Amino acid sequence: MKLHGTMQINDRGHLEIGGCDAVDLIAAFGSPLMVIDEALLRENCRRYRKAFAHNDSAAVFYASKALLTTAVARIIDDEGLGLDVVSGGELTIALAAGFPPEKILLHGNNKSPAELKFALNCGVGRIVVDNPYELALLEEISTMKGCRPQVLLRLAPGVDAHSHSYITTGKNDSKFGFNIAGGDALNAVKSVLNAPQLELKGVHCHIGSQIHELDAFRCAAQVMMDFLQEARKETGWIAEELDMGGGLGVYYTSEDTPPSIEEYAKALQEAVEQKCQEHNYPKPRIFVEPGRSIISPAGTTLYTLGSSKEIPGVRKYVAVDGGMTDNLRPALYQAEYEGMIANKAREQAVEKVAVTGRCCESGDMLIWDLAVPHIEPGDLLAVSCTGAYTYSMSSNYNALPRPAIVLVADGRAEVIVEREKWGDLVRLHRIPDHLL
Ligand code: LLP
Repeated sequence: MKLHGTMQINDRGHLEIGGCDAVDLIAAFGSPLMVIDEALLRENCRRYRKAFAHNDSAAVFYASKALLTTAVARIIDDEGLGLDVVSGGELTIALAAGFPPEKILLHGNNKSPAELKFALNCGVGRIVVDNPYELALLEEISTMKGCRPQVLLRLAPGVDAHSHSYITTGKNDSKFGFNIAGGDALNAVKSVLNAPQLELKGVHCHIGSQIHELDAFRCAAQVMMDFLQEARKETGWIAEELDMGGGLGVYYTSEDTPPSIEEYAKALQEAVEQKCQEHNYPKPRIFVEPGRSIISPAGTTLYTLGSSKEIPGVRKYVAVDGGMTDNLRPALYQAEYEGMIANKAREQAVEKVAVTGRCCESGDMLIWDLAVPHIEPGDLLAVSCTGAYTYSMSSNYNALPRPAIVLVADGRAEVIVEREKWGDLVRLHRIPDHLL
């Protein structure tokens, strides 16, 4: 397993993250456990801010759908990034952390009237309008409230980012945004310009996630700039802001060779600049909304090994005390991860095993082929790069409580999300009187 951020192997032959021994973490906080490396999280934020430094401080909006806790929101604010939220729930977590609402973007392809009202009441910085229904709704609510929100229009640029089809979002055949091809996007610009209650600041696109090809981003930027030029010709409107969404891929296994944050920033900015020159278009502020590339490498999940089953000539299954409930990505996207036996980090590998979760599903696999030393129940498995889209997509399937999340730095470990307890699982259940 590649060691990320502050990971190292200590004198006891144990994996250490943020100066905390994985064995001690499990003893103190229980298993399974999600561990966030604060230094690496902050470093990724800083790299993004620096790479987009010529824009102002809120040009990088962390996509909170990757992982949002109140403590994570505090760190994001502390590092000078904005926040992209996609629901009233994410907005509630952000506000509970004291995140400045003016640095929040609200996304979503089906925002409810209640969510739009909530966002306007608390004064979010931008609403990213996805479709004609929402446009009419937002106009109506803003008129009622007598406010004038600043909006971006989400466009579908028709770029195929060659990622997994479930996480590719910018194509023409996509549920998100106004399609550029066919004229919906231009009509949307005209509608907002004709809506006195809305202020059109710019346009947005998000072409997908876990993208390794800079050309996909370049291409999207070119399509967006060509669209802005067309919109200017048609309406005279000049966009102040161009939000290119998120999507930069990360290293999960040695198969992944993603570009760096700096290469990505350079490619995007150059593509926009070239088009600005070509069209003699005033350069818009570039926004980005990275999620995975900020939080994924900073997260590691620690599990405890339990039962195993060897099928001669086929494979050996080894089960951990979590699985698809805390990391759905292998089951949903055939995602691959690296792992290591955290309490035997220096021992030689002697066999390959298939690491399975504890849910009642054959598809509940974490890693198909993990080389391990001699293992026994009670050993700890560390799975790296699990910060993004794991806890945020977790479930209580099989009535499994969600793990705790701890933040580690400089030998300190603090709980930022408590472990769910069995009792939490019945908190919302009610038995009607006639059944009592
Ligand atoms: N902006 C918008 C509008 C998005 O929809 C997303 C992700 C992002 C930004 C952040 O993208 P990132 O930098 O994290 O790639 N559950 C999937 C990923 C879904 C991504 C959804 N949108 C997975 O686990 O791979």
